[in-house]
Amino acid sequence: MTQHYRITLLPGDGIGPEIMAVAVEVLKVIGEQLDLSFEFQEALMGGAAIDAKGEPLPAETLDLCKNSDAVLLAAIGGYKWDALPRHLRPETGLLGLRAGLGLFANLRPAKILPQLVDASSLKREIVEGVDILVVRELTGGIYFGQPKGIFATETGEKRGVNTMAYTESEINRIGRVGFETAQKRSKKLCSVDKANVLEVSQLWRDRITALAPEYPDVELSHMYVDNAAMQLLRYPKQFDTMVTSNLFGDILSDAAAMLTGSIGMLPSASLGASGPGVFEPVHGSAPDIAGQDKANPLAQVLSAAMLLRYSLHQPTAADRLEQAVNTVLDQGNRTGDIMSEGMTLLGCRAMGEALIQALHSV
Ligand code: IPM
Ligand code: MG
Repeated sequence: MTQHYRITLLPGDGIGPEIMAVAVEVLKVIGEQLDLSFEFQEALMGGAAIDAKGEPLPAETLDLCKNSDAVLLAAIGGYKWDALPRHLRPETGLLGLRAGLGLFANLRPAKILPQLVDASSLKREIVEGVDILVVRELTGGIYFGQPKGIFATETGEKRGVNTMAYTESEINRIGRVGFETAQKRSKKLCSVDKANVLEVSQLWRDRITALAPEYPDVELSHMYVDNAAMQLLRYPKQFDTMVTSNLFGDILSDAAAMLTGSIGMLPSASLGASGPGVFEPVHGSAPDIAGQDKANPLAQVLSAAMLLRYSLHQPTAADRLEQAVNTVLDQGNRTGDIMSEGMTLLGCRAMGEALIQALHSV
């Protein structure tokens, strides 16, 4: 029987529409091959929504997302909207989407592909074999804590305030995602905090430690965030699954991404307790190359693979898509961002065509 799924597409800004078009074509082929039927509904978000509707996350966009099985997001933002007040910025739309869908768990894999080892700015022996998954808390911590704002003090001087706060239940639920993710991988979990200085981190460490007996097969370690940043560059292969708070995860996941040297290759998944997940590439909207058919669509396609795996529970389809990416790289196909000597330079559309050929030949 044909399985039917409704997928909301948020192409966003910059290179977003180009890479989204490739992902949609590829999903259609997978659908035909595996008897899955996808109904795509497109909505405005980010700068595109600001231009058309005057706000980065219109209510109808959030409603469409809620009424779907999964959301595929490309990229948002650009210089054009950088000077707008905070509530009108594309980033605020993204935070609203995360909060509105309750997406508290953000999975950010940083896996080095053997074909691209030399794209890393670190030595081959340091990065070869790196396979890390950062589990970042996404709807709490300093991004959302109250009070926040810029306030006038008694002397008239301004004071900027954000609050890093976590309740026990918020820590427990992301902690569990961390342990369960580690169980499916190499069973090693490193929890990252700043418990030597911050009370909120002390509570984080206490809760994560208290959960550990429920997962006796997982080897738990703790690390301070400054050390974790250093260790990621010194000896990244010591890490398998990392679990951490919103801000620390924002920073560490960029560092982990750069180990692979090819941020254009990295997908991510944002998941809630139930309801649709949001799947998006780690990279940004690259306004400088937008509309020139130069973008690398592979992170978007790998995000579609995560969507198939985590929201639609279609691991065969996800494997096939990941295998197609592997095949096009093995064939020597590269976009500009991952180009090296002797390889074939392709534009965004041509990379999409190569993927479809690879899917047909599986
Ligand atoms: C990310 C981004 C966002 C964040 C911004 C665009 C709001 O940096 O997804 O990592 O800080 O979470
Ligand atoms: Mg970030």
